[in-house]
Amino acid sequence: MTKALMVGVFGARGTGKNAWTMQQLATARPPRLVVWDHKHDPTMATLGEGFTDLGACVRAMRGKRFTLRYMPDHGADVAAQFDLFCRACFLVGNLCMVVDELPEVTKANRAPAAWRQCVNVGRLYRGADGVERSLVIFGLGQRPSECDKSFMNNLDVLHTGRVAQATDARTLADLLNVDHRELMRLPDLHWIERRAGQAEPLRGVLTFRKKVDRSSAQKPTP
Ligand SMILES: Nc1ncnc2c1ncn2[C@@H]1O[C@H](COP(=O)(O)OP(=O)(O)O)[C@@H](O)[C@H]1O
Ligand SMILES: [Mg+2]
Repeated sequence: MTKALMVGVFGARGTGKNAWTMQQLATARPPRLVVWDHKHDPTMATLGEGFTDLGACVRAMRGKRFTLRYMPDHGADVAAQFDLFCRACFLVGNLCMVVDELPEVTKANRAPAAWRQCVNVGRLYRGADGVERSLVIFGLGQRPSECDKSFMNNLDVLHTGRVAQATDARTLADLLNVDHRELMRLPDLHWIERRAGQAEPLRGVLTFRKKVDRSSAQKPTP
């Protein structure tokens, strides 16, 4: 994940968006990672340091290496929190940002300015100090039609599980070079993806490593 990348992860609820993203992060181990954990997702609870205070989360980005997970306050202005989150990621730079439930904070025709800046300029830019920066961005969502267009049109990696709506399936099928009906029939945890420069899509199934059952392993032998 050294190259600046933009990754779109789609699929209906429970198809494996978060699980696949967690596996990608476990493999790539980005030294600087910031996560917008929109719904305080238990499957991400093991991911780095969790913050409910955005100021504290932003201050923690001063470090050289960090894994930070911000859980927005849904009782306050979420758009303002996302704006600050994106501005901080852009200013700090050279990090991997993950935004879960992207359609909750962006709309097809109304991307917040700070998010748009991350998406449009994040590949390579210079900060006020003249130092080069870049961003790796993962955006997760159930429906591509609800994600902003600059994100959809700039993806280096498009990864999807099953989608429920034919309109979404057609949009993704065009980008993936597959039949949209296949996307509507994928079982949970099955995925199709296409990386920039690859003509043919890849297909796969998410698997999980079995946990060692320590309770039975530690049982004393009679
Ligand atoms: N580490 C894991 N081990 C086993 N099953 C998992 C693990 N992580 C997620 N799952 C299962 O994978 C499925 C997809 O979950 P998730 O990735 O959260 O879906 P989505 O983000 O698309 O809604 C769920 O049924 C979940 O229980
Ligand atoms: Mg999810």
